[in-house]
Amino acid sequence: MNTERFPRTPLLHGEDPVAKRREIRDYFIATFDRYESLFATLATADAYYRKPIALRHPLIFYFGHTATFFINKLILAGLLEQRLEPRFESMFAVGVDEMSWDDLDESNYDWPSVQAVRDYRQRVRTAVIGLIERLPLRLPIDWDSPWWPILMGIEHERIHLETSSVLIRQQSLDCLRTDPAWEPCRETGEPPANPLVPVAAGSIRLDKDQASAPYYGWDNEYGLHEAEVPAFEASRTLVSNREFLAFVETGGYETDGWWTPEGLAWRQFSQARFPTFWVPEPAGWRLRLMLETVPMPWNWPVEVNYHEAKAFCLWKAEQTGTLVRLPTEDEWYRLHDVAGCPEVPADRPAAANLHLDHWASSCPVDRFAQGAFCDVTGNVWQWTETPIYPFAGFRVHPLYDDFTTPTFDERHNLIKGGSWISCGNESLHSARYAFRRHFFQHAGFRTVVGAAPGLPPASHYETDRLLSEYAEFHYGAEYHGVPNFPRALADIALRCLGDRPARRALDLGCATGRTTFELARRFEEVTGMDFSARFIGLGAQLADQGVLRYTLVDEGELVSWREVWLKDLDLTEARDRVTFVQGDACNLKAQFTGYDLLVAANLIDRLYSPTRFLAQCHARINPGGLLLIASPYTWLTEHTPREEWLGGFKRDGENVTTLDGLKTVLGAHFRLIEGPLEVPFVIRETRRKFQHSLSEVTVWERLPEREDAPAHGQD
Ligand SMILES: [Fe+2]
Repeated sequence: MNTERFPRTPLLHGEDPVAKRREIRDYFIATFDRYESLFATLATADAYYRKPIALRHPLIFYFGHTATFFINKLILAGLLEQRLEPRFESMFAVGVDEMSWDDLDESNYDWPSVQAVRDYRQRVRTAVIGLIERLPLRLPIDWDSPWWPILMGIEHERIHLETSSVLIRQQSLDCLRTDPAWEPCRETGEPPANPLVPVAAGSIRLDKDQASAPYYGWDNEYGLHEAEVPAFEASRTLVSNREFLAFVETGGYETDGWWTPEGLAWRQFSQARFPTFWVPEPAGWRLRLMLETVPMPWNWPVEVNYHEAKAFCLWKAEQTGTLVRLPTEDEWYRLHDVAGCPEVPADRPAAANLHLDHWASSCPVDRFAQGAFCDVTGNVWQWTETPIYPFAGFRVHPLYDDFTTPTFDERHNLIKGGSWISCGNESLHSARYAFRRHFFQHAGFRTVVGAAPGLPPASHYETDRLLSEYAEFHYGAEYHGVPNFPRALADIALRCLGDRPARRALDLGCATGRTTFELARRFEEVTGMDFSARFIGLGAQLADQGVLRYTLVDEGELVSWREVWLKDLDLTEARDRVTFVQGDACNLKAQFTGYDLLVAANLIDRLYSPTRFLAQCHARINPGGLLLIASPYTWLTEHTPREEWLGGFKRDGENVTTLDGLKTVLGAHFRLIEGPLEVPFVIRETRRKFQHSLSEVTVWERLPEREDAPAHGQD
């Protein structure tokens, strides 16, 4: 067992800046040292350059990466002026999570020697210590503090301490050496029975604030999350190798029905037949640890990816006829509460196999009891059913805007609890790490039985440029002093409506639906319709989930991340009164009739036959009801054939405006009661490019039906 404790993540508060500076210095040095000690287990140069797995860089990248990260962030923060080694600081910068921008083509890399990287690390160490010694320190440290990128660099290195230990575990043993500093647990045996233990219903609350949180955090931890967790049962211990063997021996890896479609695709691709760290030998199963293989410790937790854990649950569910599954993130927090797990203490070893306080490996599943359970924290990470999503109030940190946001894609599931090598931030209650479901970490699972979990809030960020521009146009900031356009239209419509009935409204060409929501402040029922399913999809998501997330182009490939909430627009009550449907304004289905208001905003000059649309409008609107038309009259033949234009041309030598055309087409059934007004709108294209337009607005009242009304020729 280790006797020297690896320092804990520093409290951001304190009264004594001198002591805090020393604490952070020690924290940095201990982390930098421990990382190098991990790489000292690589016995040959080959260990650095041979890829442990195809989809990752070789370990030489990770050796340089954590040092480079310091320099890149400190330069970004304006705390360092000079690069130390520009070539390294480009080569070691990115390539960690199978992102599309990662370049894993090894022919593009000319990796430096191990000694060159060691020397580089030494220079980085000196630079960071120099900065820690001279940078003014004001307490508490918050995420706007110049000390934040220093803590960020240290916590980042601690993450890679763990992920590099996984890669070393996947490296050939012939290029590694065992090391007393990385001694595994030697306690093995048979696991105890693993009964389900009831957990009463209860509420959980997470509330981490960027200005006042006690410990460093990554962006995804901040914000407020509260949930009522229904009662469930959870297995007392993590699922052991012995328990998982039953699944393997019963044909678990050959029975497609126990695998989700995504899991099956992974299994067929990988040809997996048993857990990745299991080693079949003629004399029986062995387990690959970081630096050696050992006879299978049957009472240690099995380590698998999400797909394997999920398949085990589906098999178990079939066997037992119960709803066996993985816990949700909320259920893990509930377990944490009922088990009464403390944070890792500063002055004594963790009461869990956590923070390198005990061994450089897992240990028996019942070695650390926490309340009625074992290993709610520590030993191995625990897969959950929950794809990572942002809490309310999520913001990216400006120095690391792509730490989390690329994982808000429903493809990265949260892992909780930490492993034997999870240190610093990773060991905290508030930690939220997520991995691709097919990834291997020191991660296993516990099973729960309970009603099917609710879906977490969607985490997807809309990145389609046009949709994002419209999301911002409708729900985002106002630019150049121009008020929100879709809301302005709704205000005009509601003002003109006066005390007329306001039962049903139709917002045609609603795009992402802001006017639809605004009209629902007063109308009992508002339908937003657009030709584009992509557009109404955003409106529907907002109605369903109350939040919309999208990226905005700042310049070139740089984007910023936005989030809008219905509640912040005071539209929460409107969500039950809106419906979004796809439809063609020129060919409206019969059921869309009986409206007290029809809004056609920036629509008519995009229709292939505006006349056909306008000529049928009266049949959709109740007598006395209103039609609002707004348009910049941007006639383009790509949308509307020239012969269909309502105006914007000369006829018999005289100008015909679109307003003239509207009067002609609508005159038989409508009376102009308002306008024309010019209402401006601004669409943000990039941070420095905006489209500023004027839309002409007219409001028409539907006349009562007359016996002798002339029929319009178009229908
Ligand atoms: Fe990294």
